[in-house]
Amino acid sequence: MKISIFGLGYVGCVSAGCLAKNDHKIIGVDVDKHKIELINNGIPTIVENQIDELILNARNSRLLEAANDTLYAIINTDISIICVSTPATESGQLNLNNIYKVAENIGRALTQKKSFHTIAIRSTVPPGTGVNVTSIIEQVSNKQRNIDFAIVSNPEFLREGTAVKDYFNPAFTLLGSDCDNALEIMSKIYNDINAPIVKTNFHSAEIIKYVNNSFHALKITFANEVGNICKNLNIDSHEVMNLLCLDKKLNISPYYLRPGFAYGGSCLPKDLGALVNISKGLNIETPVINNIARSNEVQKDTALKEILKTGKKKIGVLGLSFKAGTDDLRESPIVEIVERLIGKGYEIRIYDNHVQLSRLMGSNKSYIDSRLPHLSKLLYNLNDVIDSSEVIVISNNEDEYQEIFEYSNNQTTNLSEKTIIDLVKIKHDKELIGEYNGLCW
Ligand SMILES: NC(=O)c1ccc[n+]([C@@H]2O[C@H](COP(=O)([O-])OP(=O)(O)OC[C@H]3O[C@@H](n4cnc5c(N)ncnc54)[C@H](O)[C@@H]3O)[C@@H](O)[C@H]2O)c1
Repeated sequence: MKISIFGLGYVGCVSAGCLAKNDHKIIGVDVDKHKIELINNGIPTIVENQIDELILNARNSRLLEAANDTLYAIINTDISIICVSTPATESGQLNLNNIYKVAENIGRALTQKKSFHTIAIRSTVPPGTGVNVTSIIEQVSNKQRNIDFAIVSNPEFLREGTAVKDYFNPAFTLLGSDCDNALEIMSKIYNDINAPIVKTNFHSAEIIKYVNNSFHALKITFANEVGNICKNLNIDSHEVMNLLCLDKKLNISPYYLRPGFAYGGSCLPKDLGALVNISKGLNIETPVINNIARSNEVQKDTALKEILKTGKKKIGVLGLSFKAGTDDLRESPIVEIVERLIGKGYEIRIYDNHVQLSRLMGSNKSYIDSRLPHLSKLLYNLNDVIDSSEVIVISNNEDEYQEIFEYSNNQTTNLSEKTIIDLVKIKHDKELIGEYNGLCW
């Protein structure tokens, strides 16, 4: 395919060399004359493993040329990939001027073109940038999005030092767009890469790079804090983290990585608190570990605010234990929310099939007695809770709750006027009834 690449730095140079290796014909565009000269002399603009050979071969086989000429690049290619820099300003804001400048240039060049043009944004940009780029191109070119041209988000995941290897061996190639034609065209340029092509919406593709890199940063700082604690205890931190990584069920897995409600129960809060105390006792700074509980409190506050925002006073709660399938109420985050709602004069009804007061004992009983001493007056059967509540809060993913809110022909209760606040993203197959509000989705 014929592809123009805007920006010939790390990402653009690697993309140019790798796409040419897969027999695509590339025109590189950059504002830096020196970079254009280098590419036209078969020399990469960056230092990177394997790139010298790729750029030289691409040039020798006439699959690569560079120019500071947007019109020439647009007229002679079907796809443009934007790889220009998106530097951060001193205040930490991203400067997107280069992206918008390229969008303007492409828009102007498109006025001279009749065929459909696909524009992929490979630079790392915040959500909303693609919409802005589309509007700029529409305004400048007078052409219509998804008819004359379309934008695809195609974030780059390479790491410097192993960029070429990463290009040919990604976990997956991500394409985000609302234009099927453009997704189809972009898929073709990655046909030779041995990795799945994942198609998604534009905004998810835009934000994923920031989410990925923040997660990577979190992993690094977490491991470092564990290292600092272990070193001070004369424990081999590498052995500890190797053990952590051995658990592919809960640790290195999708488990616990779904947006939802605050954690609770008898183990997570207690054991996290213990690790925080160990690090305090050693006089070590572990800000990431110390602030996990704070983040959990914020999630409880967010849930409470969602309930208060409805302005309704009759609140039904489905699930009081900290997770489905248990009667463990210790540190259950919904217990604290119920306590705060009662304090504010709300009328609360709770249903939890697993919680039977006569069977609660030990620390579980003393915990709930201290938080909700009049729990017996709050527990109702499922129908009572649903019928008499204006707002229904689903706080754990019990199978029993899953079908209640789905549209069905034999619905006995009128749910359409109720507000559902889902704290756990209840599993469901059909559309839900009522005003549905997910906690963080
Ligand atoms: N470097 C990485 O490892 C990496 C990895 C993934 C994503 N990214 C993202 O990719 C983007 C590019 O990063 P990079 O490291 O390649 O940047 P870079 O600074 O190495 O290269 C950017 C190039 O864009 C050119 N440029 C700027 N304005 C231009 C314009 N109006 N027209 C044409 N060319 C223009 C610059 O001259 C430069 O050659 C950034 O958004 C970055 O966050 C970088």
